[in-house]
Amino acid sequence: MSFNLRNRSLLDLVDFSPREISYLVDLAAELKRAKSAGNEQPRLKGKNVALIFEKASTRTRCAFEVAVHDQGGHVTLLDAAGSQMGHKESLKDTARVLGRMFDGIEYRGFHQSVVQDIARYSHVPVWNGLTDEAHPTQVLADLLTMQEFGPRPLSQLAFCYLGDARFNMGCSLLVGGTQMGMDVRICSPAALAPPVALVAQMQALAASTGARISIETDPLKAVAGADFLYTDVWVSMGEADAVWQQRIDQLLPYQVNAALMRATGQPHTRFMHCLPAFHNLDTEVGRQVHDKFGLKEIEVTDEVFESEASIVFTQAENRLHTIKAVLVATLA
Ligand code: CP
Repeated sequence: MSFNLRNRSLLDLVDFSPREISYLVDLAAELKRAKSAGNEQPRLKGKNVALIFEKASTRTRCAFEVAVHDQGGHVTLLDAAGSQMGHKESLKDTARVLGRMFDGIEYRGFHQSVVQDIARYSHVPVWNGLTDEAHPTQVLADLLTMQEFGPRPLSQLAFCYLGDARFNMGCSLLVGGTQMGMDVRICSPAALAPPVALVAQMQALAASTGARISIETDPLKAVAGADFLYTDVWVSMGEADAVWQQRIDQLLPYQVNAALMRATGQPHTRFMHCLPAFHNLDTEVGRQVHDKFGLKEIEVTDEVFESEASIVFTQAENRLHTIKAVLVATLA
């Protein structure tokens, strides 16, 4: 099945229909096979793509760069330090300039309203590389990964996201899982639950996609029967370091460890994480948290992260194939 997504922006998954999301995931699988077989067709020749990063990135930036290069196009990176953006020029003006030069723009930053404004004023396709509210390209990669590793079709799979569900990952997984008709479990303390309005919107959508949505506070109940356990860092980019103590107190019962993996009752349950992860003391932040709070591992134990059940690096690789699918579908 083919869709015309040309010139569409990807600002949030809610703007796409379930069939369009499914099409992008299938196109990513096709592009992944073509790259592996060495017969990828470059469909972005002559296309110029701007990458705006107001926050740090490894996977998203590399995935966009490699995807555009693989497809025969060119990228230009702009960050706050190396451009006028935000200091001497507003994003609205920057967007109008970039729209005159580039065929498409990726944006990673803070507020969803900024990526919406860039799309409004640039008049070219804009792709959300992460805002506080949404991380749509990550969830496309997650859906592809669940499709690859799941023992059944996506609509018959259950995943459980554990952690702070108020922001981009909890919200975008809720949306993507609902669109694919999955068994979606979001598990957090009540204070860190997803926005009530989004849950209501997804419950209404679930009536047509067949999704089952549960918003849970009890991790043992939430993970029972789940095919995938998914977590994310407990303190997001842009949040103050001071929130660590409170977040640890709230989320320690939600840490993904071997006991929680066993509690699914499913020997095939896989572990997922959008990365980066704090699973040992090999990072500066991990060591700081250890020195202050005594934790050697935070949202996931090293045992689970390094286990056979962990599919986090395939998930990371799939950022490339899914971002490439978005670029090809909207630009080629
Ligand atoms: N998962 C993710 O967005 O990774 P980066 O922050 O490295 O881009």
